[in-house]
Amino acid sequence: MPAQSVLNTTELVDKTLSEVFTPVQIGQHLSTNRIVCSPISINLADDQGFVTDEIISFYETMGKSGAGLVTIGATSVSPEGGSTANGMKVGPAKFEPGLRRLASAVTDTGALCSLQIFHVGAQGNTAYSGQPVLGPSPYTCPDIGIEARELTILEIERIEDDFAAAIISAHRAGFDFVELHLGHGYLLHEFLAPFFNRRADEYGGSVENRMRIFHNIVAKVKLHDAMAFTRVGLRISGNDYVDGGMAIEANRPLVEFMESQGAAYWVVSAGIYETAPQKYENMKNGNYYRYAEQLKSYAESVVIAQGGVRDAAAAAIILNNGQGDLVGMAQALIADPNVLKKAFYGQAEKILPCVECGRCRYIKRKDLMFDCVRPEGYHPSHSKWKLTGRASS
Ligand SMILES: Cc1cc2nc3c(=O)[nH]c(=O)nc-3n(C[C@H](O)[C@H](O)[C@H](O)COP(=O)(O)O)c2cc1C
Ligand code: SF4
Repeated sequence: MPAQSVLNTTELVDKTLSEVFTPVQIGQHLSTNRIVCSPISINLADDQGFVTDEIISFYETMGKSGAGLVTIGATSVSPEGGSTANGMKVGPAKFEPGLRRLASAVTDTGALCSLQIFHVGAQGNTAYSGQPVLGPSPYTCPDIGIEARELTILEIERIEDDFAAAIISAHRAGFDFVELHLGHGYLLHEFLAPFFNRRADEYGGSVENRMRIFHNIVAKVKLHDAMAFTRVGLRISGNDYVDGGMAIEANRPLVEFMESQGAAYWVVSAGIYETAPQKYENMKNGNYYRYAEQLKSYAESVVIAQGGVRDAAAAAIILNNGQGDLVGMAQALIADPNVLKKAFYGQAEKILPCVECGRCRYIKRKDLMFDCVRPEGYHPSHSKWKLTGRASS
């Protein structure tokens, strides 16, 4: 349970936003409102993947923004699983003290905190990880140009162990939730989607085989904690925009299985690296919220709609349309960490909007230090974790 909300509902000035600032149950936890800080990788871990003061400062700021749930950006479960040079890692015990500090820094603000975990899979880049690129089947991401090697069964079993260790470690470190990243063309998504998964063994072919990795991860975690999946959420793909890709209906067997294990929430995103243009076009058209609405028609757990939400008024429309139970925001919070407070206290005209320059999105590609072009946006307070000597893709 959160200690106390940054935004006390009794002080809400703009009553048209009351739906946004209403508490909501997410699995076992109560969120003080319906706004989620979407996962934002800021590429500011140290070279080994340890949490730094800068990371803590950023996410603490997101907690103080008033969002009910703050999601920590994609954190790799495996040595070869990161997508950036300075991404965080989770699983081995050595990472746990830093992650514990991070979880506490966020939950002390009154927000719930979820750690998103992932493995980059076939969209990896050796220039960032120093490791081979591995996927369910050979695949060359056009943006990167490195052919992924097909994983052996032994390697898949090791990655299942990595995911299990990461979930157990994150819960032990104090995160309210762990969010499994099954979107954006990362490894777990790749196993599900025939576009990426052309295996002829027990991990490919039928839906049952393409879901085998999830069944095995669940079984391995439950040996340690039978209730662990009541504290797990999942980010899934509403549409990959390729033949053989995922779509909301294609996720149904996974949704049913993970909900049978207690899954606490769903987040709907879309696209893979090679369909980035279609992704942004569909985001702008509001199609991400339509995918979330479709998911709500059959999912039991709460659904987070997101993508292109720039203020609490836009969030209110999505909630009132029944397209989500909660609403995620990323760039609006980077551009103005006070975006929610200003709306809450009736000062929406003072919000400093994201100008859609794309800089923060491409830090990993352009070797940039994370910050926002807007003077009022988030800027790192420390400079010791500068990115150095990394190749761009
Ligand atoms: C700097 C940056 C980092 C991001 N990192 C992640 C991430 O780690 N995991 C993820 O699922 N999405 C990530 N995203 C995508 C956001 O969570 C979100 O889906 C996307 O930005 C659209 O939402 P918005 O319009 O509110 O920004 C990132 C976005 C930005 C701008
Ligand atoms: S860097 Fe650009 S795209 Fe990112 S939040 Fe700031 S204004 Fe928006």
